[in-house]
Amino acid sequence: MKLAVAAVVSLLLAVAATGGAAVTFQVTNNASTTPGGQRFDRDYGAGYAARVLSDASRFTWAVFNQTSPAERRPGVDTVALVVNAATDDGAIAYTDGSTIVLGAGYVLNYTGDVRAEVTGVLYHETVHVWQWGLQDYNAHWWVFEGIADFVRLRAGYAPAHWVLPGQGSGWDKGYDVTARFFDYCDSLRPGFVAVLNAKLKDSYSDDYFVQILGKNVQELWMEYKAKYGQ
Ligand SMILES: *[C@@H]1O[C@H](CO)[C@@H](O)[C@H](O)[C@H]1NC(C)=O
Ligand SMILES: *[C@@H]1O[C@H](CO)[C@@H](O)[C@H](O)[C@H]1NC(C)=O
Ligand SMILES: *[C@@H]1O[C@H](CO)[C@@H](O)[C@H](O)[C@H]1NC(C)=O
Repeated sequence: MKLAVAAVVSLLLAVAATGGAAVTFQVTNNASTTPGGQRFDRDYGAGYAARVLSDASRFTWAVFNQTSPAERRPGVDTVALVVNAATDDGAIAYTDGSTIVLGAGYVLNYTGDVRAEVTGVLYHETVHVWQWGLQDYNAHWWVFEGIADFVRLRAGYAPAHWVLPGQGSGWDKGYDVTARFFDYCDSLRPGFVAVLNAKLKDSYSDDYFVQILGKNVQELWMEYKAKYGQ
């Protein structure tokens, strides 16, 4: 991705030495002339964002039980955040490789604790930088989005609008619904998500639930619903 020099209004670097492999966290506000970009600078800040990317990466490695760099996705030496006036499809944020794009319009319009919200979004997107198996994203998107929201949940950044534990019409609805279900699976076997993520390196299979927890995913979903009286 090429950045026009004039567009790089704010560039912040933070480097984390992570047991051998250094990762750089880079934040660029490409929308600093728009009201949303200005709110980002005022209420969040590029320096704070660089620290959050670093914290979120460490937290993700811990959830994934990746204590050494050799266990992580290779070739990621920079995690970049670009605040853009608009995301291509109007999304809040998306991740392309190791570049996270955050929509300035979303930041502008958010009512409530914008710091907690943006941090939660950055945790979710940072997981996409590090998780395995995204080559199968379209076939099993709910698994990947569920893992990203599971990490966000574990970090304490679940927003108020999420479903409560036990809610949702199926384990494969993705995002918060799948994340709450994975939280249940992780309570049955601490480290479930770490093992699931490691298995995703090559491909996904529903059989992973049987392999990890000894039960098929529909059976687990029924038990989960029953536990919460849903
Ligand atoms: C920065 O913003 C300009 C104008 O909106 C856009 O054309 C460009 O693609 C953006 N850069 C990145 C890295 O997204
Ligand atoms: C922000 O709010 C304005 C006014 O309601 C709306 O037109 C715009 O689409 C919103 N932007 C985003 C990204 O939600
Ligand atoms: C984490 O990984 C180590 C090996 O690297 C393994 O011995 C340990 O059991 C794993 N922990 C969990 C909770 O899966």
